Amino acid sequence: MLPTRDTAALAVAGFLAQTLRRTPDVVLGLPTGRTMIPVYRGLVRLHESGLADFSRAITFNLDEFIGLPPGHPGSFHAYMREHLFDHVNLPRGASHFPRSARTKGSAYDRAIERAGGLDVCLVGIGRNGHVGFNEPASALTAETHRVRLKPATRRSNAYLYGDRPERVPKFAMSMGIGTILRARAVVLLALGATKAQIVRAATTGPVTARVPASLLQTHPNVVVVLDREAAGRRRV
Ligand code: PGA
Repeated sequence: MLPTRDTAALAVAGFLAQTLRRTPDVVLGLPTGRTMIPVYRGLVRLHESGLADFSRAITFNLDEFIGLPPGHPGSFHAYMREHLFDHVNLPRGASHFPRSARTKGSAYDRAIERAGGLDVCLVGIGRNGHVGFNEPASALTAETHRVRLKPATRRSNAYLYGDRPERVPKFAMSMGIGTILRARAVVLLALGATKAQIVRAATTGPVTARVPASLLQTHPNVVVVLDREAAGRRRV
């Protein structure tokens, strides 16, 4: 637990930069979301200071909306370019996104395997407990798959669509929970009081598909990074 949003986000940026220095050809799983904006800002600064070299890294994003034209400003491609890829030396072709409804999810999982598997998968958590776009359900899908987004998730992504939730696509592709759990290490970052309740449920409650992030409790190598507000009243 770190005292502020900035210190928590910078701790994650520093960890990723250190990982890049130790393992230049690292394979990273990368999320989007408002939580990650200060992380990527920190990573860009570290890159500018010569402390984060992406020249041999490979990235796989956790999810992407379905049905948007290429380059759509509300896409996660556009988010990643704006917040990270346009500002660091990640080679063209080294970043990957789960593609369209026509692409079988398992093809994405095979591409991850061919790259050597995810070394580190950074994830956020939705207020409903989703991780990637694995929404609460009675059962979860292990491999990368197409998902119908919950209204709460479309609302929380409305910031990409002029604060108009009805404009947020209804479907997306997401890494499956199995894809995420196969990463050698998982880093979960949650910031702010609005996440305190779900962080508590995910980290100390029962392991259940109703709180997809709770499945992370079964992973042997997870780091949970919280600011004081997301940690709630707990000592973490
Ligand atoms: P947020 O999204 O960072 O915008 O809260 C997190 C998530 O939905 O995983």
